[in-house]
Amino acid sequence: MIVPITLYSDDILRQKAVPLEGIDSGVRDLIGNMLETMYNAPGIGLAAPQAGSALRLLVLDISCMKEYAHVKPMVVINPVVLSSRGYLAMEEGCLSIPGVQGDVVRPAVITLRYRNEEYAEETMEFSGMLARVLQHEIDHLDGRLFVDRLQKRDRRKVQKQLDAIASGSFAASYPVAEISSSGYAANG
Ligand code: NI
Repeated sequence: MIVPITLYSDDILRQKAVPLEGIDSGVRDLIGNMLETMYNAPGIGLAAPQAGSALRLLVLDISCMKEYAHVKPMVVINPVVLSSRGYLAMEEGCLSIPGVQGDVVRPAVITLRYRNEEYAEETMEFSGMLARVLQHEIDHLDGRLFVDRLQKRDRRKVQKQLDAIASGSFAASYPVAEISSSGYAANG
């Protein structure tokens, strides 16, 4: 099932998502919905808060990019970055922030401990586009968006677009959620 993607200024995108304690049919459904929603958009990564669930879960598939055609889709649960090295600036965008792009500096290589779609623990090193997408999506689980990491000047350049999205004025070619600002306030 394609689910509406939550948008910039929605409180769920600012919450710290909660770890999963296992995989049940509800989680399996959510993973299926997230993959379908990501492919439909289309996007190369999606974090659970973007699908309306504040859980530490993300999916990605970068195989649409020529040099990554062999890379299998990933389901990543409860990720923890154990170490990182190097720095790299790359342009990013986000399905929750339609039409906005900007250069973000992040570590080039990360070592990640996480649980896969079988809830089995894995520890692996990632570089290149995988490291980039993983870090962008992990940020979502911590309530952080790529626009928070733009240089001040770049952030100023996109501020009008961000304000427009917050006020409901944007163009997206995929279903989006109505912006909700009640949940977070209720949690303080
Ligand atoms: Ni994103």
